[in-house]
Amino acid sequence: MKRVTALDIGSSSIKMAVADIDANSGMPMVRGFVKLPANGIKSGMIVDIEAATAVIYEARKTLEKSIDAAVDNCFVSISGDHITGINTSGRINTSKEHTIGLGEPDKITTESVTRVLDHTRGYGLSSDREILHLFPIEYVIDGRSGITRPEGMSGRRLEVKAHLTTYELTAVENITTCMEQAGISVSGLVLHSLASAYGVLEPEEKKRGVILIDIGAGVTDIIIFQNNAVHYTATMTMAGEMVTHDIHYLTGTTIEKAEKIKLEYGYASDEVIKDTELLKIEGIAGRKSTPIQNRELATYINARLVEILTEAQKKARNSEILQKIEPVVCLCGGTSLLRGFDTVADQVFSTSPLKPNLTRIGVPTGFTSSHMKELTSPEYACLIGLLKFGADQKGKGMISTLTQSVDLWSKFTKFINSRRIKKK
Ligand SMILES: Nc1ncnc2c1ncn2[C@@H]1O[C@H](COP(=O)(O)OP(=O)(O)OP(=O)(O)O)[C@@H](O)[C@H]1O
Ligand SMILES: [Mg+2]
Repeated sequence: MKRVTALDIGSSSIKMAVADIDANSGMPMVRGFVKLPANGIKSGMIVDIEAATAVIYEARKTLEKSIDAAVDNCFVSISGDHITGINTSGRINTSKEHTIGLGEPDKITTESVTRVLDHTRGYGLSSDREILHLFPIEYVIDGRSGITRPEGMSGRRLEVKAHLTTYELTAVENITTCMEQAGISVSGLVLHSLASAYGVLEPEEKKRGVILIDIGAGVTDIIIFQNNAVHYTATMTMAGEMVTHDIHYLTGTTIEKAEKIKLEYGYASDEVIKDTELLKIEGIAGRKSTPIQNRELATYINARLVEILTEAQKKARNSEILQKIEPVVCLCGGTSLLRGFDTVADQVFSTSPLKPNLTRIGVPTGFTSSHMKELTSPEYACLIGLLKFGADQKGKGMISTLTQSVDLWSKFTKFINSRRIKKK
């Protein structure tokens, strides 16, 4: 049976899981998972190799113990504001050879599709960046648009419109260094938002048009699908940590206690609070702190969440597809666990009474586990999604080919290795 391991490198926690893939359904059956407080990671990026390696190593060892088997490779999520997404296009001639003028149309082969996808790279990638995913949006044959699978069709000219995500080489080198030192090889790097989409989105959402927003601790990751294709990706360094810091400043307590207050007494909206309560909060090292009512706290949390969601909405509006469609919205990530979060999401996204219920909180589906209850939570969207992505790489086709990204990881590792050889 095929086994997949996933590692979600988050700003607040490292999550790792192992699953066996059911041969018939392609569904991950989670055998074990571990969640440890993160160290050496800020805003989705590694800032301390030694500290991050130690947590990843501990996660690996804990997982190995729980499943009584070795873990030596895994799919890893990647996030941070070094990642950029742009729309691009490529065009090639597919006429029969040796014909003059317009030429005779020829059958489009898999090789032509690979070639046209390769042409999308022509936008001039700087030497410090590499491609993470290339998402075909649609193919155009002799001016006819909207083609999803061009292989076998006839034409003189093949074009592709695509979305391309790129990353900074140094950021990924830091991840690979940690992984190498923790004794795990990387099976594939997956954009955080893409993994979360695998985790929580339903096929009908990806067809109709959906904005997925994963609000974690240090980063908010955005991805837009329409007609099963990825049209837009973005990452913002605004997320749940900001709410914790607000509580810390407001009350004069420590960051750790502010985090606890958020989890225990935090509400995303005061509309969902039943009983007013005065929260007595400890100050730093015996100092007095400012007591605060749970309702007042909720208004501050609400303001911050509205700011984050409005910013995400603004970013999403940069996507061309939002000029043409009105998508539904799916939210996940640990911050969406705040009580009343759906109320805030509606406040921001479903502004017109004519268009209610655009939003939902997404929890991972399409897997089995003896820890189903714990894992069916928006904070595990990325982790479970990584397992599903890993399962899908074996060609079981859980999603349509159009949403399947072109995996450029092998090209990257070759590139890194060649750089290393040169350095030696
Ligand atoms: N029950 C809860 N109520 C409120 N906030 C919560 C709850 N559970 C988790 N969070 C918040 O969610 C955030 C962690 O979410 P998540 O695990 O998705 O982030 P991460 O993967 O560690 O970080 P990132 O993806 O931003 O790099 C933290 O800020 C945490 O305070
Ligand atoms: Mg995360």
